[in-house]
Amino acid sequence: MNSDNYIQEIIADRLGGRNFGKANTVYKFARIKALKAEAAKKFPDLPLIDMGVGEPDQPADESVAEVLRAECGKPENRFYADNGIIEFQEAAARYMERIYGVKGLCAGKNIIHGIGTKPILAMLPLCFINSGDVSLVTVPGYPVLGTYTKYCGGEVYNLPLKKENGFFPDLDSIPADILHRSKLLYINYPNNPTGQAATREFFERVVEFARANNIVVVHDAAYAALTFGDTKPLSFLSVPGAIEVGVEVQSLSKAFNMTGWRLGFIAGNEKVVSLYGTVKDNTDSGQFRAIQKAGIYALEHPEITERIRVKYERRMNLLARTLRDIGFDAEPSKGTFYCYVEMPRGLADGRVFASAQEAAEYLIMNANISVVPWDDCGGYLRFSVTYSAADEREEIEMMNELKRRMTALGLVF
Ligand SMILES: Cc1ncc(COP(=O)(O)O)c(C=O)c1O
Repeated sequence: MNSDNYIQEIIADRLGGRNFGKANTVYKFARIKALKAEAAKKFPDLPLIDMGVGEPDQPADESVAEVLRAECGKPENRFYADNGIIEFQEAAARYMERIYGVKGLCAGKNIIHGIGTKPILAMLPLCFINSGDVSLVTVPGYPVLGTYTKYCGGEVYNLPLKKENGFFPDLDSIPADILHRSKLLYINYPNNPTGQAATREFFERVVEFARANNIVVVHDAAYAALTFGDTKPLSFLSVPGAIEVGVEVQSLSKAFNMTGWRLGFIAGNEKVVSLYGTVKDNTDSGQFRAIQKAGIYALEHPEITERIRVKYERRMNLLARTLRDIGFDAEPSKGTFYCYVEMPRGLADGRVFASAQEAAEYLIMNANISVVPWDDCGGYLRFSVTYSAADEREEIEMMNELKRRMTALGLVF
């Protein structure tokens, strides 16, 4: 037996056991990455228009970086941070009140930081899911809580986000036997990828649903501060009763251009937060204190988010207009930095796209335009406004070029 076989024999079932790595499925993002490399060779003189990026196009604000520079060498910041420094929790509590009007969160009880929100979403199923338990998860969406539910031997019940339901889950459609076994409900607003934002009424309905079915709500608020037009930032925790049934995860990645810094926090129900704290304490040793201190500075300067938000809003309006001119049924999103549109049906020569994946591949290989396809509930393409452009003039040029290339393809809608 060679050493590769030796390892293969003992891989855990949760990763596919002996079959790990043998499936032919190539994951969406890996496939797009490979095609982007192919398109770069095919079009040496045509720059890529990358509308598929899922993170900010700029670094963190210089003032935040300055705090990190000042803090990083200080002796008192060298220690393991464990479940975090109280000053960060206090700053997070003040932020929740200032931005979302959520009062009374106690730093020591209702808030703990995370090394980004991704690990927080990964750890929550470890707190609740036994074999056979169910997590209710909206799709399309960020898959981490569902993936860990399965790692724990649980099941994921998908709640489709359909256009006809305003991209909200239909909580009344869940079968009784699933509800009976459900322990977690994962929701995310403003939503990646649909761009829909929650209403207070929706959150109230979620609280009522959770209470009636003994379910813990996990609201992923990674984009909550980035809303446009009349839509204002809304926290799940601002709804009466929410703190009795759930938690919210907040991220500094998108609101403060700090994706690589890895900082976020969980806020809400004391018991849930403390369970997360137990798993976290046994998993990591906390984010570098100097980064937490830079995070405090960021949370105390919401004008940084406002500058980012204003830019995305301008780009979102421009993008939606451009996509409409091309023929898409596009509206500016209510939040996030994504615009989610139904895929073109095909091409003027009669060719029909079988899926959004196929449409996206066609755009890369024929126009060097990268977008993210979603085929979970109908075929949709996600365009991100975090493309590279130095100023408004370049943004307009980018949109004109997008329109020129897409129009030349002869897309049919
Ligand atoms: C919906 C959603 N939730 C969570 C995350 C993870 O963010 P973080 O950088 O805080 O781990 C992302 C990142 O893309 C996201 O889109």
